[in-house]
Amino acid sequence: VDVDPSAYEYGELADEPRMFTEILEQPSSVERALRGRLDERFGTAHLGGLNLDPRELRAIRRVKILGCGSAYYVGQMGAGLIEELARIPADAEAASEFRYRNPIIEPDTLYVAVSQSGETIDTLLAVQEIRRKGGRVLGVVNVVGSAIARAVDGGIYLHAGPEIAVASTKALTNMYVAFSLLALQLGRVRDLSIADGKRLISGLQALPTQIEEILKSESHLEEVAARLAEAESMFFVGRVRGYPVAREGAQKLKEISYRHAEAYQTSELKHGPLALISESVPTVAIVPQDELTDRNVAALHEISARRGPLVVVTHPEVDLGELDALRVDVPKNEVELDPILLTIPLQLIAFHAAKALGHDVDKPRNLAKSVTVE
Ligand code: AGP
Repeated sequence: VDVDPSAYEYGELADEPRMFTEILEQPSSVERALRGRLDERFGTAHLGGLNLDPRELRAIRRVKILGCGSAYYVGQMGAGLIEELARIPADAEAASEFRYRNPIIEPDTLYVAVSQSGETIDTLLAVQEIRRKGGRVLGVVNVVGSAIARAVDGGIYLHAGPEIAVASTKALTNMYVAFSLLALQLGRVRDLSIADGKRLISGLQALPTQIEEILKSESHLEEVAARLAEAESMFFVGRVRGYPVAREGAQKLKEISYRHAEAYQTSELKHGPLALISESVPTVAIVPQDELTDRNVAALHEISARRGPLVVVTHPEVDLGELDALRVDVPKNEVELDPILLTIPLQLIAFHAAKALGHDVDKPRNLAKSVTVE
């Protein structure tokens, strides 16, 4: 599904919402994000724009990622990747909150500002606060020459191409790819083995074809979306790698379908929200194949026992046993990269739910593409 940009203006996609064409464009936009950045011989990534030599990369003791909305959720995925691959403590925080708690800026922390537009004021002000206190900030940004791109010490461009729809899709996918490359490069100057580096490179190279495969299941996702659109309120749940995926899925659905969707850690359901589960409150569960699969499936049985309708986003290899659920299967990649693939069907589910409800998918009420005022 290689979308020629001119198809928006003149081609067969001209009448489709931009969000839809941007979703379809992802196999090619991911390829652009990877182009020229993989070093197969040494099993690493080359990100020239970081402006950090290997010694400086090794000296990083902590990584702090800042972004707003969906960019913050992808930042959370990125922090997980950096901890896993490079074993550097990493976390993500909403840029809109960061500046107001007089944050401690440490010299050996690498700060990363993530933004599609590069113009989000809260993220820009966070960058300025860090730099004012002498911190080093990288940008993970789509729009070349944007305010954040100009304000940082170095960074990674997303190469997602112009993103017009308010609900971000292809830029978020490329953010995750960018964090994978950063985690790989940070890992390979530390203890990540060359074999693991090569394993991740093969995984990254497989992404465009696997995304194409997911896009082919669109009609099934349309049916799933129609069911969810009937509910006033629903949960999106996941654990560890799956939790930021759930947050992003809930966010996308809220933004354009105006249905209430709450993201929760699957493990936390029993500490409160399980009380809300009923026939009229569906749950979308993110269940990657990893060390938590069995625990995830056990928690879904708890939901099913309370007659909560279930949609399970998982891989064909995962056995759900007798669970009464609508399945959405995505191809399996390396465990670290699966969150990218698990996110794609959630974009199409949100899109079709909004369409079924008759909303303007590209211009949701009350929202702007980039938030340039505090
Ligand atoms: C995403 O679908 C949202 N429209 C929104 O959360 C967005 O990600 C956020 O406002 C940050 O925008 P940015 O990436 O341009 O900084």
